[in-house]
Amino acid sequence: MLIPVLLAGGTGTRLWPLSRQSRPKQFLALTGDATLLEQSLARVRRLPDLGEPLLIGSAEHRFVMAEQMRAAEMPGRVLLEPAARNTAPAVAAAALEARARHGGAAELLVMPTDHAIGDNDLFARAVAQARAGAAAGRLTLFGVTPDRPETGYGYIQAGETLAEGTRAVQRFVEKPDAERAAAYLAAGDYFWNSGMFLFTADDYLDALAEYAPEIHAAASRAHAEAEADIDFLRLDAEAFAACPSDSIDYAVMEKTERAVMVALDAGWNDLGSWSAVGRAVGADAAGNSRRGDVWLEDAENCVVHSDGRLVAALGLRDTLVVETAEAVLVADRGREQEIKGLVESLRAAG
Ligand code: GDD
Ligand code: MG
Repeated sequence: MLIPVLLAGGTGTRLWPLSRQSRPKQFLALTGDATLLEQSLARVRRLPDLGEPLLIGSAEHRFVMAEQMRAAEMPGRVLLEPAARNTAPAVAAAALEARARHGGAAELLVMPTDHAIGDNDLFARAVAQARAGAAAGRLTLFGVTPDRPETGYGYIQAGETLAEGTRAVQRFVEKPDAERAAAYLAAGDYFWNSGMFLFTADDYLDALAEYAPEIHAAASRAHAEAEADIDFLRLDAEAFAACPSDSIDYAVMEKTERAVMVALDAGWNDLGSWSAVGRAVGADAAGNSRRGDVWLEDAENCVVHSDGRLVAALGLRDTLVVETAEAVLVADRGREQEIKGLVESLRAAG
Protein backbone atom coordinates (compact mmCIF):
# COMPACT_ATOMS: atom_id res chain seq x y z
CA MET A 1 0.00 0.00 0.00
CA LEU A 2 1.20 3.48 -0.90
CA ILE A 3 0.81 6.16 1.76
CA PRO A 4 1.34 9.74 0.63
CA VAL A 5 3.08 11.76 3.33
CA LEU A 6 2.63 15.47 2.75
CA LEU A 7 5.06 17.78 4.49
CA ALA A 8 3.34 21.06 5.25
CA GLY A 9 5.29 22.45 8.18
CA GLY A 10 7.64 24.81 6.37
CA THR A 11 7.61 28.50 7.07
CA GLY A 12 8.19 29.54 3.46
CA THR A 13 10.14 32.59 4.58
CA ARG A 14 11.92 32.95 1.22
CA LEU A 15 8.52 34.02 -0.15
CA TRP A 16 7.99 36.71 2.44
CA PRO A 17 5.99 38.96 2.62
CA LEU A 18 3.25 37.03 0.80
CA SER A 19 4.05 33.89 2.74
CA ARG A 20 3.72 34.73 6.43
CA GLN A 21 3.79 32.78 9.66
CA SER A 22 0.00 32.76 9.89
CA ARG A 23 -0.33 31.42 6.33
CA PRO A 24 2.84 29.98 4.81
CA LYS A 25 3.08 29.46 1.07
CA GLN A 26 1.86 25.84 0.96
CA PHE A 27 -1.59 27.13 1.96
CA LEU A 28 -1.62 29.85 -0.74
CA ALA A 29 -2.63 29.79 -4.40
CA LEU A 30 0.63 31.08 -5.87
CA THR A 31 0.34 29.98 -9.47
CA GLY A 32 -3.29 29.03 -10.13
CA ASP A 33 -6.62 28.68 -8.34
CA ALA A 34 -5.74 25.79 -6.05
CA THR A 35 -3.29 26.15 -3.17
CA LEU A 36 0.03 24.29 -3.33
CA LEU A 37 -1.22 21.78 -0.74
CA GLU A 38 -4.42 21.17 -2.70
CA GLN A 39 -2.38 20.69 -5.88
CA SER A 40 -0.15 18.17 -4.11
CA LEU A 41 -3.16 16.20 -2.86
CA ALA A 42 -4.72 16.22 -6.33
CA ARG A 43 -1.45 14.90 -7.82
CA VAL A 44 -1.55 11.70 -5.77
CA ARG A 45 -5.26 11.06 -6.04
CA ARG A 46 -5.07 8.85 -9.13
CA LEU A 47 -2.12 6.70 -8.04
CA PRO A 48 -2.94 2.98 -7.73
CA ASP A 49 -3.05 1.04 -4.44
CA LEU A 50 -3.42 4.26 -2.49
CA GLY A 51 -3.90 4.40 1.28
CA GLU A 52 -5.17 7.31 3.32
CA PRO A 53 -2.71 10.23 3.12
CA LEU A 54 -0.87 11.56 6.14
CA LEU A 55 -0.46 15.29 6.35
CA ILE A 56 2.03 16.66 8.83
CA GLY A 57 2.55 20.24 9.87
CA SER A 58 2.39 22.76 12.67
CA ALA A 59 -0.38 22.52 15.28
CA GLU A 60 -0.91 26.24 14.65
CA HIS A 61 -2.16 25.42 11.12
CA ARG A 62 -4.45 22.51 11.99
CA PHE A 63 -7.64 24.12 10.72
CA VAL A 64 -6.24 25.29 7.40
CA MET A 65 -4.74 21.82 6.86
CA ALA A 66 -8.03 20.03 7.61
CA GLU A 67 -9.98 22.50 5.48
CA GLN A 68 -7.70 22.12 2.44
CA MET A 69 -7.74 18.30 2.72
CA ARG A 70 -11.52 18.51 2.58
CA ALA A 71 -11.40 20.92 -0.36
CA ALA A 72 -9.14 18.50 -2.26
CA GLU A 73 -11.50 15.61 -1.44
CA MET A 74 -8.64 13.58 -0.04
CA PRO A 75 -9.60 12.71 3.51
CA GLY A 76 -6.68 11.63 5.62
CA ARG A 77 -4.97 11.93 8.95
CA VAL A 78 -3.37 15.14 10.15
CA LEU A 79 -0.31 14.86 12.40
CA LEU A 80 0.42 17.96 14.44
CA GLU A 81 3.85 19.14 15.45
CA PRO A 82 3.99 21.25 18.61
CA ALA A 83 7.20 22.87 17.29
CA ALA A 84 9.08 22.79 13.99
CA ARG A 85 11.97 20.33 13.99
CA ASN A 86 12.52 20.19 10.21
CA THR A 87 11.74 17.23 7.96
CA ALA A 88 13.68 14.27 9.42
CA PRO A 89 11.51 14.12 12.59
CA ALA A 90 8.33 14.90 10.61
CA VAL A 91 8.92 11.97 8.25
CA ALA A 92 9.77 9.79 11.27
CA ALA A 93 6.44 10.60 12.94
CA ALA A 94 4.59 9.82 9.70
CA ALA A 95 6.53 6.55 9.26
CA LEU A 96 5.64 5.51 12.82
CA GLU A 97 1.98 6.30 12.23
CA ALA A 98 1.93 4.43 8.90
CA ARG A 99 3.62 1.43 10.53
CA ALA A 100 1.13 1.42 13.41
CA ARG A 101 -1.80 1.46 11.01
CA HIS A 102 -0.59 -0.60 8.05
CA GLY A 103 2.63 -2.39 9.06
CA GLY A 104 6.28 -1.57 8.39
CA ALA A 105 6.15 -2.65 4.75
CA ALA A 106 3.81 0.25 3.91
CA GLU A 107 5.47 2.41 1.27
CA LEU A 108 5.69 6.12 1.99
CA LEU A 109 5.66 8.64 -0.81
CA VAL A 110 7.06 11.70 0.94
CA MET A 111 6.07 14.89 -0.81
CA PRO A 112 6.84 18.51 -0.10
CA THR A 113 3.98 20.90 -0.62
CA ASP A 114 5.99 23.68 -2.23
CA HIS A 115 6.25 22.40 -5.81
CA ALA A 116 4.51 22.49 -9.14
CA ILE A 117 4.64 19.45 -11.45
CA GLY A 118 3.57 19.88 -15.06
CA ASP A 119 2.99 16.30 -16.19
CA ASN A 120 1.14 14.13 -13.68
CA ASP A 121 1.29 11.01 -15.90
CA LEU A 122 5.09 11.06 -15.96
CA PHE A 123 5.01 11.64 -12.22
CA ALA A 124 2.82 8.53 -11.76
CA ARG A 125 5.24 6.49 -13.87
CA ALA A 126 8.22 7.63 -11.77
CA VAL A 127 6.34 6.65 -8.60
CA ALA A 128 5.68 3.16 -10.02
CA GLN A 129 9.42 2.76 -10.78
CA ALA A 130 10.30 3.89 -7.27
CA ARG A 131 7.91 1.34 -5.76
CA ALA A 132 9.90 -1.45 -7.39
CA GLY A 133 12.98 -0.06 -5.60
CA ALA A 134 11.18 0.11 -2.25
CA ALA A 135 10.32 -3.58 -2.56
CA ALA A 136 14.08 -4.20 -2.80
CA GLY A 137 14.88 -2.18 0.33
CA ARG A 138 15.94 0.99 -1.49
CA LEU A 139 15.43 4.62 -0.47
CA THR A 140 14.46 6.40 -3.69
CA LEU A 141 15.18 10.00 -4.61
CA PHE A 142 13.52 11.64 -7.60
CA GLY A 143 16.09 13.46 -9.72
CA VAL A 144 15.43 16.46 -11.97
CA THR A 145 17.79 17.48 -14.79
CA PRO A 146 19.37 20.78 -13.67
CA ASP A 147 19.60 23.83 -15.90
CA ARG A 148 21.36 26.32 -13.61
CA PRO A 149 23.75 26.25 -10.65
CA GLU A 150 21.04 26.58 -8.00
CA THR A 151 22.38 26.53 -4.43
CA GLY A 152 19.05 25.96 -2.69
CA TYR A 153 18.73 22.30 -3.73
CA GLY A 154 20.26 18.92 -3.04
CA TYR A 155 22.40 17.37 -5.80
CA ILE A 156 22.41 13.70 -6.74
CA GLN A 157 25.35 12.22 -8.62
CA ALA A 158 23.84 9.38 -10.66
CA GLY A 159 25.72 6.19 -11.44
CA GLU A 160 24.95 3.05 -13.42
CA THR A 161 21.47 2.17 -14.59
CA LEU A 162 19.96 -0.48 -12.30
CA ALA A 163 16.56 -0.94 -13.89
CA GLU A 164 14.48 1.00 -16.39
CA GLY A 165 14.47 4.59 -15.19
CA THR A 166 16.42 3.80 -12.01
CA ARG A 167 20.07 4.69 -11.42
CA ALA A 168 22.51 4.11 -8.61
CA VAL A 169 23.34 7.11 -6.42
CA GLN A 170 27.07 7.80 -6.16
CA ARG A 171 26.70 10.79 -3.93
CA PHE A 172 24.10 13.10 -2.49
CA VAL A 173 25.09 16.64 -1.53
CA GLU A 174 22.56 18.92 0.13
CA LYS A 175 22.75 22.63 -0.74
CA PRO A 176 26.31 22.98 -2.11
CA ASP A 177 27.96 26.41 -2.30
CA ALA A 178 27.90 28.31 -5.62
CA GLU A 179 31.27 26.99 -6.77
CA ARG A 180 30.39 23.35 -6.24
CA ALA A 181 26.91 23.83 -7.72
CA ALA A 182 28.52 25.21 -10.90
CA ALA A 183 30.94 22.25 -11.03
CA TYR A 184 28.07 19.76 -10.61
CA LEU A 185 26.11 21.42 -13.41
CA ALA A 186 29.15 21.25 -15.71
CA ALA A 187 29.88 17.62 -14.81
CA GLY A 188 26.66 16.45 -16.46
CA ASP A 189 25.94 13.44 -14.23
CA TYR A 190 24.32 15.41 -11.40
CA PHE A 191 20.58 15.86 -10.86
CA TRP A 192 18.62 18.09 -8.54
CA ASN A 193 16.81 16.42 -5.69
CA SER A 194 13.11 17.15 -6.14
CA GLY A 195 12.49 16.76 -2.40
CA MET A 196 10.22 13.72 -2.86
CA PHE A 197 11.23 10.34 -1.46
CA LEU A 198 9.86 6.81 -1.56
CA PHE A 199 10.71 4.01 0.87
CA THR A 200 9.01 1.62 3.26
CA ALA A 201 8.26 2.86 6.77
CA ASP A 202 10.68 0.26 8.19
CA ASP A 203 13.53 1.16 5.85
CA TYR A 204 13.32 4.85 6.72
CA LEU A 205 13.10 4.20 10.45
CA ASP A 206 16.05 1.77 10.30
CA ALA A 207 18.18 4.30 8.43
CA LEU A 208 17.21 7.04 10.88
CA ALA A 209 18.08 4.81 13.86
CA GLU A 210 21.49 4.23 12.28
CA TYR A 211 22.39 7.79 11.23
CA ALA A 212 20.38 9.98 13.60
CA PRO A 213 19.55 7.86 16.66
CA GLU A 214 18.55 10.87 18.78
CA ILE A 215 15.93 11.93 16.24
CA HIS A 216 14.68 8.36 16.03
CA ALA A 217 14.38 8.09 19.82
CA ALA A 218 12.68 11.47 20.33
CA ALA A 219 10.24 11.00 17.43
CA SER A 220 9.38 7.50 18.69
CA ARG A 221 8.59 8.89 22.13
CA ALA A 222 6.59 11.80 20.70
CA HIS A 223 4.53 9.37 18.60
CA ALA A 224 4.06 6.79 21.38
CA GLU A 225 2.74 9.53 23.68
CA ALA A 226 0.71 11.32 21.03
CA GLU A 227 -2.88 12.29 21.75
CA ALA A 228 -5.75 11.75 19.34
CA ASP A 229 -7.86 14.91 19.11
CA ILE A 230 -10.88 14.59 16.76
CA ASP A 231 -9.27 14.11 13.31
CA PHE A 232 -5.85 15.17 14.53
CA LEU A 233 -2.97 13.34 16.12
CA ARG A 234 -1.01 15.65 18.40
CA LEU A 235 2.61 14.58 18.87
CA ASP A 236 3.75 14.84 22.47
CA ALA A 237 5.05 18.36 23.03
CA GLU A 238 7.77 17.59 25.54
CA ALA A 239 9.24 14.66 23.62
CA PHE A 240 9.09 16.52 20.31
CA ALA A 241 10.69 19.63 21.78
CA ALA A 242 13.64 17.47 22.85
CA CYS A 243 14.16 16.26 19.28
CA PRO A 244 17.16 17.64 17.38
CA SER A 245 16.18 19.67 14.33
CA ASP A 246 17.46 18.38 10.98
CA SER A 247 16.27 17.78 7.44
CA ILE A 248 15.83 14.32 5.95
CA ASP A 249 18.43 15.36 3.36
CA TYR A 250 21.25 15.97 5.84
CA ALA A 251 20.19 13.42 8.47
CA VAL A 252 19.61 10.43 6.18
CA MET A 253 19.93 10.91 2.43
CA GLU A 254 23.50 12.26 2.43
CA LYS A 255 24.57 9.25 4.52
CA THR A 256 22.67 6.18 3.43
CA GLU A 257 24.22 3.72 0.99
CA ARG A 258 20.82 2.37 0.01
CA ALA A 259 19.72 5.35 -2.07
CA VAL A 260 18.75 5.05 -5.73
CA MET A 261 17.42 7.68 -8.10
CA VAL A 262 14.45 7.71 -10.44
CA ALA A 263 14.51 10.45 -13.08
CA LEU A 264 11.59 12.86 -12.86
CA ASP A 265 11.46 15.03 -15.94
CA ALA A 266 7.84 15.94 -15.49
CA GLY A 267 8.03 19.73 -15.54
CA TRP A 268 9.08 19.98 -11.91
CA ASN A 269 9.29 23.49 -10.54
CA ASP A 270 10.21 24.29 -7.00
CA LEU A 271 8.34 27.32 -5.78
CA GLY A 272 10.93 27.99 -3.14
CA SER A 273 11.90 31.50 -4.16
CA TRP A 274 10.44 34.53 -5.90
CA SER A 275 12.41 33.71 -9.07
CA ALA A 276 10.90 30.22 -9.08
CA VAL A 277 7.41 31.67 -8.73
CA GLY A 278 8.30 34.08 -11.55
CA ARG A 279 9.33 31.16 -13.79
CA ALA A 280 6.09 29.33 -13.01
CA VAL A 281 4.01 32.46 -13.72
CA GLY A 282 5.98 33.17 -16.94
CA ALA A 283 8.05 36.12 -18.14
CA ASP A 284 7.77 38.66 -20.97
CA ALA A 285 10.43 39.29 -23.63
CA ALA A 286 12.44 41.51 -21.26
CA GLY A 287 12.47 38.75 -18.65
CA ASN A 288 9.96 40.43 -16.34
CA SER A 289 7.44 38.31 -14.52
CA ARG A 290 4.45 40.13 -13.14
CA ARG A 291 1.35 39.17 -11.25
CA GLY A 292 -1.51 41.42 -10.15
CA ASP A 293 -1.81 45.12 -10.82
CA VAL A 294 1.68 45.93 -12.13
CA TRP A 295 2.97 48.60 -14.53
CA LEU A 296 6.58 48.46 -15.68
CA GLU A 297 8.58 50.85 -17.85
CA ASP A 298 12.14 50.21 -18.96
CA ALA A 299 12.44 47.20 -16.66
CA GLU A 300 14.46 44.04 -17.20
CA ASN A 301 14.60 40.70 -15.47
CA CYS A 302 12.37 41.74 -12.57
CA VAL A 303 9.78 39.81 -10.58
CA VAL A 304 6.96 42.12 -9.54
CA HIS A 305 4.00 40.85 -7.58
CA SER A 306 1.10 42.95 -6.40
CA ASP A 307 -1.41 41.53 -3.97
CA GLY A 308 -3.71 44.54 -4.10
CA ARG A 309 -2.36 47.99 -4.80
CA LEU A 310 -1.01 49.18 -8.15
CA VAL A 311 2.75 48.77 -8.35
CA ALA A 312 4.49 50.99 -10.93
CA ALA A 313 8.23 50.79 -11.51
CA LEU A 314 10.65 52.64 -13.79
CA GLY A 315 14.16 51.71 -14.87
CA LEU A 316 14.53 48.63 -12.68
CA ARG A 317 16.97 45.76 -13.35
CA ASP A 318 17.16 42.37 -11.61
CA THR A 319 14.86 43.48 -8.81
CA LEU A 320 12.13 41.81 -6.79
CA VAL A 321 9.14 43.85 -5.72
CA VAL A 322 6.39 42.20 -3.71
CA GLU A 323 3.47 44.24 -2.45
CA THR A 324 1.03 43.03 0.22
CA ALA A 325 -1.30 44.85 2.61
CA GLU A 326 1.09 44.36 5.55
CA ALA A 327 4.52 44.79 4.01
CA VAL A 328 6.44 45.54 0.82
CA LEU A 329 9.68 43.82 -0.19
CA VAL A 330 12.18 45.41 -2.56
CA ALA A 331 15.31 43.32 -3.10
CA ASP A 332 18.17 42.51 -5.43
CA ARG A 333 17.04 39.43 -7.32
CA GLY A 334 20.52 37.90 -7.08
CA ARG A 335 20.24 37.80 -3.30
CA GLU A 336 16.86 36.19 -2.89
CA GLN A 337 18.27 33.25 -0.88
CA GLU A 338 19.05 35.86 1.81
CA ILE A 339 15.40 36.85 2.29
CA LYS A 340 15.20 34.10 4.90
CA GLY A 341 17.89 35.90 6.94
CA LEU A 342 16.19 39.24 6.40
CA VAL A 343 12.94 37.89 7.85
CA GLU A 344 14.84 36.47 10.82
CA SER A 345 16.41 39.89 11.46
CA LEU A 346 12.97 41.52 11.27
CA ARG A 347 11.57 39.03 13.78
CA ALA A 348 14.49 39.50 16.12
CA ALA A 349 14.01 43.27 15.94
CA GLY A 350 10.35 42.74 16.91
N1 GDD B 1 5.95 18.85 8.80
C1 GDD B 1 6.98 19.62 8.56
N2 GDD B 1 7.76 20.04 9.59
N3 GDD B 1 7.26 19.99 7.29
C2 GDD B 1 8.32 20.77 7.08
C3 GDD B 1 9.17 21.23 8.11
C4 GDD B 1 8.85 20.83 9.46
O1 GDD B 1 9.52 21.20 10.45
N4 GDD B 1 10.15 21.99 7.56
C5 GDD B 1 9.92 22.01 6.24
N5 GDD B 1 8.81 21.29 5.94
C6 GDD B 1 8.18 21.06 4.61
C7 GDD B 1 8.07 22.31 3.76
O2 GDD B 1 6.78 22.89 3.92
C8 GDD B 1 8.29 21.76 2.36
O3 GDD B 1 7.05 21.31 1.81
C9 GDD B 1 9.19 20.54 2.57
O4 GDD B 1 9.04 20.17 3.93
C10 GDD B 1 10.68 20.78 2.25
O5 GDD B 1 11.18 21.75 3.16
P1 GDD B 1 11.97 23.04 2.64
O6 GDD B 1 12.36 23.84 3.84
O7 GDD B 1 11.19 23.71 1.57
O8 GDD B 1 13.29 22.35 2.04
P2 GDD B 1 14.23 22.97 0.93
O9 GDD B 1 13.44 23.49 -0.20
O10 GDD B 1 15.17 23.90 1.60
O11 GDD B 1 15.07 21.68 0.44
C11 GDD B 1 14.43 20.46 0.07
O12 GDD B 1 13.75 20.57 -1.18
C12 GDD B 1 14.60 20.85 -2.33
C13 GDD B 1 13.74 20.89 -3.56
O13 GDD B 1 12.72 21.80 -3.43
C14 GDD B 1 15.54 19.39 0.00
O14 GDD B 1 14.93 18.12 -0.08
C15 GDD B 1 16.47 19.62 -1.19
O15 GDD B 1 17.39 18.54 -1.31
C16 GDD B 1 15.65 19.73 -2.47
O16 GDD B 1 16.50 19.96 -3.60
MG1 MG C 1 11.48 24.01 -0.51
